[in-house]
Amino acid sequence: MKIETQRLFIRSLTTGDVPLYAVIVSDPDVTRFLGDGSTHSRKKAEGYVKSNIESEKALGLARYAVVHKASGTFIGICGFKKMENYTDLGWRFNPRFWGKGYATEAASAVLNYGINVLELTDIVVSVATANIRSFKVAKKLGSKFLEPQKSDMQGIVKFSQVAPNNKTKKDAASRAYC
Ligand SMILES: CC(C)(COP(=O)(O)OP(=O)(O)OC[C@H]1O[C@@H](n2cnc3c(N)ncnc32)[C@H](O)[C@@H]1OP(=O)(O)O)[C@@H](O)C(=O)NCCC(=O)NCCS
Repeated sequence: MKIETQRLFIRSLTTGDVPLYAVIVSDPDVTRFLGDGSTHSRKKAEGYVKSNIESEKALGLARYAVVHKASGTFIGICGFKKMENYTDLGWRFNPRFWGKGYATEAASAVLNYGINVLELTDIVVSVATANIRSFKVAKKLGSKFLEPQKSDMQGIVKFSQVAPNNKTKKDAASRAYC
């Protein structure tokens, strides 16, 4: 896949992205709210990139590479992950590129791609309210495409896709189980 936004290219991950992705997830500020919060080894980062390449081949969706147009630098990832009964939308960026609106720009374009090209009707964004930066990204998307649900016991808020083209939530659920 390939999408172009005002300041970014968003494209399929390749094994060439492993070195810069590994740097991103070796930073505790990035992994603080991911999994158990620990940083990722180079081997784990490589496995993650490879599993996303495989996911795109097998399922037609994955987390994608986000490239800063002006410098040509790989700055993070944003995209989809197939869960048991919904499609997760997630992101993680190099802190050098935080605070510039790139995550929201990428996530908005990827969400559009998911709805209009992949025709997904079961997209969910899950964010811990303590993850303030990520929460803000989700809320900004929420004004257009997603509606926030109540937070659960762990303080995770799920933003669910507002079904496009009169498709109902029931349609989305039945599709997710097909
Ligand atoms: C979550 C994450 C991607 C958010 O990154 P971010 O840079 O804060 O988010 P955005 O790209 O939307 O940038 C928003 C900020 O850029 C500022 N900004 C500067 N120039 C801008 C521009 N041209 N357009 C839009 N916003 C701009 C905004 O004002 C906003 O700042 P504010 O939050 O202080 O108001 C990043 O913090 C991250 O990688 N975290 C670690 C991984 C993680 O937790 N992932 C999510 C798991 S659920």
